[in-house]
Amino acid sequence: MAPSVSDIVPPVTETIADLKLTATTQDSSPSYPFYYPYYDPNEKFPPTQVYEHTDPGAKADRAKPHLLTPETNVSHLSPFLGTEISGVQISQLSEEGLDELALYAAERKVLIFRDQDFKDIGPDRQIEIAKRFGRIQRHPTSGNVKGYPEFHVVYRGTEHDRLKDVIPDDRIIRTQWHSDVSYEKQPAGTTFFFVLDQPPVGGDTLFASQVEAYNRLSPEFKKRLEGLRAVHSGFEQAEASRRRGGIVRREPIQTEHPLVRRHPVTGEKALYVNQGFTRRIVGFKMEESEYLLKFLFDHISKGADFQIRARYQPGSVVVWDNRVTVHSATGDFNPGDRRHAVRLTPQAEVPTET
Ligand SMILES: [Fe+2]
Repeated sequence: MAPSVSDIVPPVTETIADLKLTATTQDSSPSYPFYYPYYDPNEKFPPTQVYEHTDPGAKADRAKPHLLTPETNVSHLSPFLGTEISGVQISQLSEEGLDELALYAAERKVLIFRDQDFKDIGPDRQIEIAKRFGRIQRHPTSGNVKGYPEFHVVYRGTEHDRLKDVIPDDRIIRTQWHSDVSYEKQPAGTTFFFVLDQPPVGGDTLFASQVEAYNRLSPEFKKRLEGLRAVHSGFEQAEASRRRGGIVRREPIQTEHPLVRRHPVTGEKALYVNQGFTRRIVGFKMEESEYLLKFLFDHISKGADFQIRARYQPGSVVVWDNRVTVHSATGDFNPGDRRHAVRLTPQAEVPTET
């Protein structure tokens, strides 16, 4: 998973291994062993309860004076999404600055913060910052951190590579577009992802704007989508974990969400379907549902002119709004290289179309 879904990440194939891009087979320990993926088969979570979420971006100053100071450097990657930011530390932002971060993430969809000290400020402070954006989701199947179930750990190394267990190796295209944990009643909103160890090249994350994907559709087609709802399922993720002998901390659920959702702060409408978790359209017969979902998934994945590629550097923290984007890992790096990253996933509002 890239930023996330460890269970729907691209497969690692011998073809890629044979490329020997850099031949830097790991021979050391993780730089941050504290965050090594932890799986306790006795750890169980109760069903998630709905809570009242108020988006911090709603009370932010639209000019963002605490985030975009004269020392802040900003560089856009695409007109539709993606902005690189340097000259500001997330860890030093005031409450107002964090509110502005929520707003800016909603507007730009993906923010790539460079040269951050975030990975070194400790788990309690990391969680404290992320909690401002919503209750943090505790993942049912991924590695977490002992004593800190809020962390979702992404780890691939020679000694621990679950990807090989869960992804069929007969696929040509190894991307898997998804929005994190969209099966939740309150799916992810402003999401944090930071890398602890990374390959010398590869392991980027692809992002697509679901707002622009929606905007490209014709008025007539948008009318047909109005009022439709789709089922998002966590069952396959849980079953995949059980199949490989892994854990399921919380029993899976299926949830209906509107096929088009409106962002509560920007008011923008976005497609809210993703190949990772969306299974069918409510009220459609099977072939109808498959036909429409296939069109939408193809439209999103082929939309290179509303996609970006987030490239990591040591110290990078990527913050994205899962409500208005989909993303995919790229499993293109040498399997001998370690990639170790952590996600914090605040849950936002119950999706609504209006
Ligand atoms: Fe993800």
